[in-house]
Amino acid sequence: MNSEHQYVQLSDGHFIPRLGFGTYKLKEVPNSKTVEATKIAIEAGFRHIDCAYVYQVEEEVGLAVRSKIEDGTVKREDIFYTSKLWSTFHHPNLVQSCLERSLKKLRFDYVDLYLIHFPIAMKPGEELYPKDENGKIIYDSLDLCATWEAMEKCKDAGLAKSIGVSNFNRRQLEMILNKPGLKYKPVCNQVECHVYHNQRKLLDFCKSKDIVLVAYGALGTQRYKEWVDQNSPVLLDDPVLGALAKKHKRSPALIALRYQLQRGVVVLAQSLKENEIKENIQVFDFELTEEDMKVLDGLNRNFRYVAMQSMSDHPNYPFADEY
Ligand SMILES: NC(=O)c1ccc[n+]([C@@H]2O[C@H](COP(=O)([O-])OP(=O)(O)OC[C@H]3O[C@@H](n4cnc5c(N)ncnc54)[C@H](OP(=O)(O)O)[C@@H]3O)[C@@H](O)[C@H]2O)c1
Repeated sequence: MNSEHQYVQLSDGHFIPRLGFGTYKLKEVPNSKTVEATKIAIEAGFRHIDCAYVYQVEEEVGLAVRSKIEDGTVKREDIFYTSKLWSTFHHPNLVQSCLERSLKKLRFDYVDLYLIHFPIAMKPGEELYPKDENGKIIYDSLDLCATWEAMEKCKDAGLAKSIGVSNFNRRQLEMILNKPGLKYKPVCNQVECHVYHNQRKLLDFCKSKDIVLVAYGALGTQRYKEWVDQNSPVLLDDPVLGALAKKHKRSPALIALRYQLQRGVVVLAQSLKENEIKENIQVFDFELTEEDMKVLDGLNRNFRYVAMQSMSDHPNYPFADEY
């Protein structure tokens, strides 16, 4: 493996590994699984770990990373760790406290990347999803640009090496990019991206602004019951992915991951299974042809697994526009 090909330079000069290990897990799975899987991922060669305050596994991820540092497998600087600001902490006075809570759980001094997780602010408090008596989410009316300025302060304080956003559409990215007095632009936008929703237009826009697109759900998501329609098609069962897998003697999962790398997308892959984790790192060992890439482009149908319909009444709901 050529390590040069495994990193992309961000607009602020830091480098992000092209393949990341996803750590979101379903509530019913015990947290101890996260410790185990994260250790396996680091041993297998993953150097980029994607997590978030709201996933509630930062303690476990921190434990796994520190144990791999202690046994000499890696140094802290070899690991690229991403955390995300949760929506109940968007108020500029709260932004740094969310990051500090994450750092405390991780027992880290800094994160490599800190993202605004979602462009919708919710009422501050300990509830992750504050709801009214009718079960509707209670929002907070805040200017995303003010939240961004607080993110910039986290970078200046050395608590986050790089800062970016997640689930932003073009309009929201432009709002930050055009903010008067912008100090740092977002280095990346992490969004749902896979062969059924390849984000072609958003990707082109991001590339034109030197913003890296990071793909989540590249393997079709974990089909979490709260967010994903259980009747939606299973991505890895797609016959075209299956045929290309056969042609390249790889799995459909590897074809789906490789597709993203070859179009300049940084890709996340989640799994708690040792065999899958070890397989996913093999994405650097083969190449798709131009023709394969065209065939995979042809699978796009602008289909989102995670639509967050319950928030579609909010003016900042990011998934209403075409991109
Ligand atoms: N920014 C955001 O709002 C946001 C939203 C969602 C996710 N994310 C991030 O993105 C990460 C990835 O997304 P995701 O968790 O939805 O899942 P994903 O990466 O799309 O993976 C979905 C499922 O694919 C299966 N899989 C993995 N490797 C495989 C292999 N080699 N062969 C066959 N099946 C394989 C696993 O299921 P089985 O174990 O059952 O086989 C896994 O649960 C998350 O963990 C999180 O870090 C961010």
